[in-house]
Amino acid sequence: MAVYEIRHPLVKHNLTKLRDRRTDYMDFRRLVSSLSIFMVYEALRDINLSEVDIITPMEPTKGKSIDEKSINFFPVIRAGLAMTDGALMVVPGARVGHFGIFRNEESLEPVEYYRKFPPDVKNGLNLILDPMLATGGTSALAVDFLREKEVPESKIKIVCIISAPEGIGKIVNSYDKIDIYTASIDDKLNEVGYILPGLGDAGDRAFGTLD
Ligand code: URA
Repeated sequence: MAVYEIRHPLVKHNLTKLRDRRTDYMDFRRLVSSLSIFMVYEALRDINLSEVDIITPMEPTKGKSIDEKSINFFPVIRAGLAMTDGALMVVPGARVGHFGIFRNEESLEPVEYYRKFPPDVKNGLNLILDPMLATGGTSALAVDFLREKEVPESKIKIVCIISAPEGIGKIVNSYDKIDIYTASIDDKLNEVGYILPGLGDAGDRAFGTLD
């Protein structure tokens, strides 16, 4: 397994705007979409290519092609939904499953309320979309849902935007082959499980549900 921190200047630039408390929900959503394009692009860097025959307006040639339908995105409701548009811009033919998981505010433990899978998930490449890898509990539960469907660990990737060392540690200690893609590894969690410096509550900021 590996942890990839994407250090491209455009990623860092957009992330800074995303973190800024003055960024309103319209810009926040737009920035999450842009960042998700970059993150998914990186997460698919090693995807299989097959050769295809095509004919250009000039002559027949060979091209390279991915099997878009074999890629499954799993946004974790709610904040992960904001990453879906960007992910689908990169792979319009991908399928989208959903995991509904919330965090118990007291125990900080993840609680499931919904899961929906595309067909043949065990033969696909499965990207979990969850912008904040905080305690790691939510992402780990999402991984476990996929493992219950016999998806090999090597076919599961976690795509987030900000991660905490605690969350990365949880995934690294629980699994052998799950890659993590993040735009930043922040300092730590606070006492109620929020990432510092972080960006606050990603779901509230994306969907305008803050006071
Ligand atoms: N979820 C969020 O939205 N923000 C955090 O900082 C941690 C978890």
